[in-house]
This record gives sequence, structure tokens and C-alpha cells, in this order.
Amino acid sequence: MPVRQSAVHMIDHLDRDHLRRALEHDVRAGLTATPKQLPPKWFYDAAGSELFTRITRLPEYYPTRRELAILKTRAGDIAAAGGADTLVELGSGTSEKTVLLLEALTSAGTLRTYTPVDVDALTLAEAGRRIAAGFPGLTVRAVCADFERHLGLLPRTGRRMVAFLGGTIGNLDPAAREVFLKDLRATLRPGDTFLLGADLVKDTGRLVAAYDDAAGVTAAFNRNVLHVINRELAADFEPDAFEHVALYDERHDWIEMRLRATRDMRVTIGGLGLTASFAAGEEMRTEISAKFRLEGLRDELAAAGFATLRQYTDPTGDFSLTLAGA
Ligand code: AVJ
Repeated sequence: MPVRQSAVHMIDHLDRDHLRRALEHDVRAGLTATPKQLPPKWFYDAAGSELFTRITRLPEYYPTRRELAILKTRAGDIAAAGGADTLVELGSGTSEKTVLLLEALTSAGTLRTYTPVDVDALTLAEAGRRIAAGFPGLTVRAVCADFERHLGLLPRTGRRMVAFLGGTIGNLDPAAREVFLKDLRATLRPGDTFLLGADLVKDTGRLVAAYDDAAGVTAAFNRNVLHVINRELAADFEPDAFEHVALYDERHDWIEMRLRATRDMRVTIGGLGLTASFAAGEEMRTEISAKFRLEGLRDELAAAGFATLRQYTDPTGDFSLTLAGA
């Protein structure tokens, strides 16, 4: 009997030109702003994705384990409530946690297609192949895209569940979140669902430790954005001359990661014909990671036109999953 093979289709919305222009724009805007800042999206080249995978295994970094714990007990419930034939995953990365969701949706008998969406083509292709090999009969349509810009290009057929896991929603500030949730809602139809993973407000010490680990992996991840800019835009940042900073902003309920110049520096970004000066001690923001309250999540979803169907936390109350209907 012939073995039914799963197919992996790669759809690339991030042609090199587009990626380059977006990086150029973000770096020019970010380095000429006061204070300087860079968006977290550019952490994730192949090396950055690898560093992030190492972060998820650190003793201090609880979100991945907590989310996995929720999925372990609730994936069946989520699959039954969603009844999806298409699972779209935004910012899928290595798709490690998704396996639980895919298994549950497969057992429920509804699933036909998995569409992982990520900015890193290499990580995406690898994950796509691994999933296809593990789920015979499942069509994998991997989409290399930026979920903030390409929501309109996602599959429009079938009954869809859009999963946005890991707490990546926290990278968006409240205004960007509102736009993102409204745009996402506009691409969905009644019957479609949205599964959102979000980290919860907790003790500040534990939050900061999760972003400033003893082994220095998060520091390397933070500095990696400078390596990316050096390589892609012919810049001469000295990553080791920047210190990793992680702090919790209680007013906004978010972690901020920064890179602090340890001395006066002048950096040339050859690809932009730009030079940037850093004063000793100057800090450049590289990421926000917002933390949420359960009610706040329901409110933000409702404001975008979603109705919360289910809301789960892990037993420690560290992390949340919210299933919302369009
Ligand atoms: C992948 C965005 C969810 O904000 O916790 C981990 C990224 N940054 N350590 C997070 C991250 C520093 C992570 N997200």
C-alpha cells in the first residue's frame, strides 16, 4: 500500500527586497530617534532563533513550560471548541508546542491544513518538514511573512483557528495591539477562532529574572540584533561594548530590554550611509514584552470584535491561553 506523504508548500511573502527595505527603514528610524530603539523582529535570524530556543529551556524562563502545561491538559478542549480544519500559527518558530494542538485537532478528526507563519525562512522550512513528517495526511503550507503586515494574505478558506502563542503579542505596544487585533478580526469569519497565549503580571523579581538569566543567553540574544545589522547593513557595531539591560516597567506592565553603551561610540551603518553616536551609558530599547491580566485580555479582544469562549491558566497562574470566537 502506498504511504500517503504529507506535502510542505512554502509561500514566501518576504522577498529579499521587501525584508531589506523593512530592516533599512526600522534601523534608520530607530537610530535617529531619541531615545534610540530597534524593533524585536530583527532578533530572529538563524542564530537568533537558535538563541531563543535556548532561552525557552532556561530555568528562569518559565513562559514556554507554562504554556506547554496548559496545552497538555487543555488541547483536547480547545480542539473540540474550535472545530477547525485549518490551523494558522503566527510567529510559529520551531512549532514545538504546536504539536500538542495538532495532535488534538487530528484526533478530533477535523484538521486538514497547518499554516505556520514566521519571518525566519530557515526555521520555518525545518519546522514545516518536521511537522509534515510527523502528521501524514496533513497539508503544511508554510508562509514566510510578517504577521503585522501580511494578515490579509493568510488562507481565506475553511474553518480556521489562528494561534498566536508564546506571549509574542506582548511585543506590541497597546496601540499596535489594537490595530493587530482589529486587522486579524477583519480577516476572520463567524466560526473561526483565535487562540492567544499571553504572559501574566506577576512578581517583578521573577519577571526580570526571566529576561536576565544567569547564563547570559538572553544577553547574547539581545546583542544578536547588532550582529544582524552589522551583517545585513554593513555596520560596525561592537556588540560586546553594549550591556544587556532588562527592567520591569510597572506603569505599563511590560518588560523592557535595552542595550546600554559602555563607552562613547560612533557607529557607521555603511548600507544606510548613516553614522550614529552613542554616549557612554546611553540605552537603546530593543524589546517590550507586555504582561497581562485575564480581564484585560478579554477586554482587548472584545474591543476588536472577538468573544472570549474559554480562558485557561497553568496551575501556578503564570501564563494564560484565551480562545476567542470571531
Ligand atoms: C518570543 C516575544 C514571547 O517576550 O518573552 C525572550 C522573546 N525576549 N527573552 C518574550 C524574548 C527575551 C519572547 N517572545
